[in-house]
Amino acid sequence: MQLVIDSANIEKINKLIEFFPIDGVTTNPSIIVNEKKPYLPLLKEIRTVIGDKKELFVQVISKNATDMVEEAKYICETLSGNIIIKVPVTMEGIKTIKLLKQEGIRTLATTVYTPMNAYLAAKAGAEYVAPYVNRIDNLTGNGVKVVSEITDIFTRHHLSCKVLAASFKNVQQIHNICLAGAHGITAAPELIEALIAHPSIEENVEKFRKDWLEQYGEESFIV
Ligand code: E4P
Repeated sequence: MQLVIDSANIEKINKLIEFFPIDGVTTNPSIIVNEKKPYLPLLKEIRTVIGDKKELFVQVISKNATDMVEEAKYICETLSGNIIIKVPVTMEGIKTIKLLKQEGIRTLATTVYTPMNAYLAAKAGAEYVAPYVNRIDNLTGNGVKVVSEITDIFTRHHLSCKVLAASFKNVQQIHNICLAGAHGITAAPELIEALIAHPSIEENVEKFRKDWLEQYGEESFIV
């Protein structure tokens, strides 16, 4: 199951890459704008930090298929390494996914709100779909149920598309998405760090060290 950082913040990406088993980085226009830096150098810097093998997801800006295809080609030519183009699931977006598939350019269908959005994108050739769990919940929908139904449909109908669930606001949502059978999650750095946060862990570690030091007085096995 993939673990992806949903951020364009270099310091945060750097830290998570050092400590956690990260598979890639997702960005969207709002995430890039948040950094207040020129976008191409920023994307290149992210690539340098994560290396060429990890997936870097970059979203197109245009609204019509012809322009989205041109942008996708430009991104793939300009950035090195493993690139996935994020395309919103509008009518033009589905057409774009079909065209990019023919060009051999890999895509993630983004802004997915329903299982039928995901079905169309998968059928058009998207490698990933990104259902927006928290945004669905905020619309009084059920993000976990949507993800669970998408994974069922893909399995039942042998669609090779993967579900990279996105848009999280708490760890409970991520926990439930893992159980719902998603192939991966993309989350903000703070939420990825929160996956390991538990007051008992530090407390237990401190007690183990205290017991050890009381008996042996050494900080490590290696003295
Ligand atoms: C990732 O692919 C999405 O763009 C992102 O997760 C949206 O998350 P948000 O709802 O927290 O903005």
